[in-house]
Parts: sequence; C-alpha cells; structure tokens
Amino acid sequence: LEGLQTKSFGRHLNLMEVTSSTQEAARLLAEEGAPEGTLVIAEEQTGGRGRQGKRWYSPARKGIWMSLLLRPQRPLSFAPQLTLLTAVAVCRAIRKVTGVDAGIKWPNDLLVQGKKICGILIESVGEDERIKYCIAGIGIDVNVELEELPTELHTVATSLKIESGQTQSRATLISAVMNELEQLYNLYEEEGFAPIRHLWEALSVTLGKRVTVKTPRGETEGTAEALDETGALVLLDDTGNIITIFSGDVQLA
Ligand code: BTN
Repeated sequence: LEGLQTKSFGRHLNLMEVTSSTQEAARLLAEEGAPEGTLVIAEEQTGGRGRQGKRWYSPARKGIWMSLLLRPQRPLSFAPQLTLLTAVAVCRAIRKVTGVDAGIKWPNDLLVQGKKICGILIESVGEDERIKYCIAGIGIDVNVELEELPTELHTVATSLKIESGQTQSRATLISAVMNELEQLYNLYEEEGFAPIRHLWEALSVTLGKRVTVKTPRGETEGTAEALDETGALVLLDDTGNIITIFSGDVQLA
C-alpha cells in the first residue's frame, strides 16, 4: 500500500480476489487472535452487507470493500463512538486524496450532494460488557460509472469517479484511510471522544437540518441540533421537546 504511514493499521494485510463479505473473513481472523489493525480487502464481494440487513453492491475492482479489526479497551456502550470516528477518518481521507466534498450523515453515511458515496458498518463482539473486538467495515464507491450503477441506485448513490471526473487510485485512498483512522484512533485513546465529536460536527451534513428518523419504535421528526457526548443525535421536535436518538435511519428533509 503506497503511502501507508501507520504503525499497525493495514500492516497485516489480507487481500482476497473474491469473498462473500470481508466482515466474515475479518471475524474469522479476529477469533483466531489476529492483531489490531489487521485489514481484509476484497476485489469483489458476492454477499456484501449493509446496515439493517440491506445488501451492499460490491462489483469487482470498482470500489474499496474492506474490513479493519479493532480491539479497543472499552465498554461495549462505546461502540457507537467508533462508528462516528470511522466516518470522520474516511471523510477526511476522501477530501484529501480526491478533493470531493463529502459530508457525514448521522451516524456514518458519507454523502456527496445528497448521494451516498460510502457506507460504514461497525460490528462489535462483546465479552462481559466490554468490547472483545470490533470489525469496521468500509465500502467506498470509487470507480463505479453511472451506467454501471443499478438503476434503482441512480438517485441515491454516486462514486468518486462520477463526482471528480477522474479514475481514482484505490491503493492511495486505502492508505489515506488507514493513516487518518490510526491517527484519530490514537487521539481517541488519549483524549476520549470530545475531539472526535468536534471533527464530526464540522463535517456533518445533518446538523441544523430538518430530519425524519426511523427507529424500531416509529418515526420522529425534528431539527438535528447536536451530537451529545456519547455520540447520540439530539433532535428538537416541533413542540420543543428534546429527543435523543441512539440508533436509527435518518432522512434529510
Ligand atoms: C451501509 O451503509 O449500509 C454499510 C455498508 C458497509 C459495506 C462494507 S463493504 C466492506 C464490508 N463488508 C461488507 O459486507 N460490508 C462492509
């Protein structure tokens, strides 16, 4: 990986031609005791998974489909913060390498002009209320062409090539993501969530907007006011009530 400046992230590399999902491959390595920073990259996924049981379209060589193994010494309740941290790292890497103006939709979708360019799936395995390990799954639509996108995705998804007009190097981007992630992760270990929260807020496309949030308990509408110190989204509804959302699917109005 050209340009990799990390100590551990991406240093144990497993490159696969095709796999069902890098999440599963990384989970097997984690269970075998693989070290933190182990990275699984696939050229193609046949069963790429998104959040909420959705499928993740992962065509051969067109994107970055990868999963990073993390072993943070934290209680399980801190897992959502890692989700936000990962989004910040990927967003910064995309901006640095490609100049594409990506922003974060809470908690961790990356959008360009309202269309999704990257999805993040963090799966945590706990032991006695503590995180045993986390698999940070990152999917970036890099060189997918408009004609290649399934039609049902045309209005909701885009790629770095479509947005920048140029083919982008996946290796350069992967290195940049690893560099940013390791830096932010070290910052998080040293100083906690506060600095990450501020970086997240600065890249957010959700704050200050009217949003509809779908949760298992129903729909809530309001204005996204802030991120609280745990990483939850704070909404102000039309009757002036403050509602804290810990998980759900956000739609921007
Ligand atoms: C989402 O936005 O719903 C999350 C998408 C996450 C996709 C990545 S691609 C690499 C890793 N392997 C998977 O099967 N999913 C994640």
